[in-house]
Amino acid sequence: MKIAVTGATGQLGKLVINGLLEKGDGVEIIAVVRDPKKALLLAERGAEIRVAAYGDPAALQSAFAGVDKVLLISSSEVGKRIEQHKNVIDAAKAAGVKHIVYTSAPRAATTALILAPEHKATEENIQRSGLRYTILRNNWYTENYKKQLESAKSTGVIVAAAGKGHVASATRADFAAGAVAVLLGSGHDGRIYELGGDHAWDYNELAATIGEIIGKAVSYKPVTADALRGILKETGVSEGAAGFVVTLDTNIADGALAEVTGDLSKLIGRPTTSLRQGLIDAIA
Ligand SMILES: NC(=O)c1ccc[n+]([C@@H]2O[C@H](COP(=O)([O-])OP(=O)(O)OC[C@H]3O[C@@H](n4cnc5c(N)ncnc54)[C@H](OP(=O)(O)O)[C@@H]3O)[C@@H](O)[C@H]2O)c1
Repeated sequence: MKIAVTGATGQLGKLVINGLLEKGDGVEIIAVVRDPKKALLLAERGAEIRVAAYGDPAALQSAFAGVDKVLLISSSEVGKRIEQHKNVIDAAKAAGVKHIVYTSAPRAATTALILAPEHKATEENIQRSGLRYTILRNNWYTENYKKQLESAKSTGVIVAAAGKGHVASATRADFAAGAVAVLLGSGHDGRIYELGGDHAWDYNELAATIGEIIGKAVSYKPVTADALRGILKETGVSEGAAGFVVTLDTNIADGALAEVTGDLSKLIGRPTTSLRQGLIDAIA
């Protein structure tokens, strides 16, 4: 069997390739990358490197030649993703790929989450393609909170407009292990998994956990959306970026990332990594 992974030089992609190389006995692993210079280590470890950017349909189709399964890791180019992902889906179909797996967002089809529309459209394009598919709706990466940990070292506070919202985050390594289990396993056709941590934490818990890790009292300072917008503007954040952060916090306050399903720990056969351990690993 041949499995291709897009976004293979990204942080999640590398973990998935390493997991496939470790566990995929007799499976050929293809890393689809846009910059082969970044893929030297992956090649050394045994992955075949094929070069294709998401904007290049012909290169994508060549990259998928002879491939049975594709993991489409969602692009990091927000705003361009519907078209980029459609290129991957169409190329996979044209190349005769049998099964596509996609990294999406929590409850992508129905949520108000600001990032969801591109994921929703991609899920629909996959479903329309006629390919066999599995959707991995990944919750937040615990690593996203490394920045808050670093700034809490000097400020002692975490300022957010996330209210009493909870986040069922897990680490990239957990999500990568979930993708590996789906790619190497069976029985996942047509399944949509809501993947996240076994525990949903709130920002008081985040602050306390960060405080324990850095050895200093840290508290959560909840602010309104308008107040946060003002604070971000004062620190030089552009209007657009501030609007994005504020909406995301509001989504969290409204519970968009709070769901705990247990799907990820079931897939990987172990509990997900705790917030504390995930943050410790992120700064190691
Ligand atoms: N759940 C979450 O909390 C969360 C947070 C952030 C992002 N995400 C999503 O999850 C994805 C994977 O996360 P990550 O941490 O691995 O992100 P990442 O490290 O930024 O990796 C993104 C990957 O996409 C590739 N890429 C971007 N534009 C491309 C293009 N035009 N053509 C081909 N490849 C392209 C990048 O290639 P290069 O290596 O050449 O740059 C990189 O390999 C992200 O792209 C984003 O969609 C989720």
